[in-house]
Amino acid sequence: MEFALGPKATAAGYRVAGYETIGSTNAEALERARAGDPGRLWLVTDHQTAGRGRRSRAWSTPRGNLASSILLVVAEGPAVAATLGFVAGLALVSALGIAGVAAKRLGLKWPNDVLLDGRKLAGILLEAEPREDGFAVAVGIGVNVAAAPEGMPYPVASLATVAPQVDATRLFALLADAWAEVERIWNRGRGFDVVRKAWLAQAAGLGHPVTVSTGDVVITGTFETIDSDGRLILRSDGGERRVVSAGDVHFGMAATVRA
Ligand code: BTN
Repeated sequence: MEFALGPKATAAGYRVAGYETIGSTNAEALERARAGDPGRLWLVTDHQTAGRGRRSRAWSTPRGNLASSILLVVAEGPAVAATLGFVAGLALVSALGIAGVAAKRLGLKWPNDVLLDGRKLAGILLEAEPREDGFAVAVGIGVNVAAAPEGMPYPVASLATVAPQVDATRLFALLADAWAEVERIWNRGRGFDVVRKAWLAQAAGLGHPVTVSTGDVVITGTFETIDSDGRLILRSDGGERRVVSAGDVHFGMAATVRA
């Protein structure tokens, strides 16, 4: 597939490297960062053989799906870099809207999933490494364009079921432009509050009970908001405020969620 940036991405100073097949675009982005790449680079493919997901899981990218990573160098530090996942989620929702998917069918699930009709359509993985000039960040975005993986422990969706005319190259050009736009608003973290509010306007489960497994503990409460660092804020039944930095969200008070 021939991947090309949209005009806004090009105007914003981005470059692109397309691959027929690659292990992981995130791994390649960090490899390039170690070799001194200055950033503002998209790495993109429609087939990964060793895709990486959150919490050390694998991410499947069969041929025809979209796997892309943005390599950025962020001087402001890891807390600011961590908010880029919200930029990516919003950019993808915007791109999907331009591709013809109705906004009401799309949702953003904390921290970084994009849902279609409540099913996982896309995942986002941030990986960062310190460098002399700041942090090299790979913002990996994987979208089930042609097919959703089978056998996942959560409901999944593919774009092909609602917009079969949109292939990975078309979605990529829209995504790269939408990213440039939302990144401009984000403004190296200074505009995160605007991003945060736009993200909350599309958030799935806001105001409803959720269960979060952090790896160590399971926390339940009402999903109240996200804070200025992008952390999840829950309110327990007893009125206590709980702040969660990382974890997997399940909607409802699921009794069987594992830590
Ligand atoms: C998740 O677990 O939900 C995050 C999945 C992130 C997958 C993308 S695909 C492009 C980039 N390269 C990778 O190896 N992973 C990310």
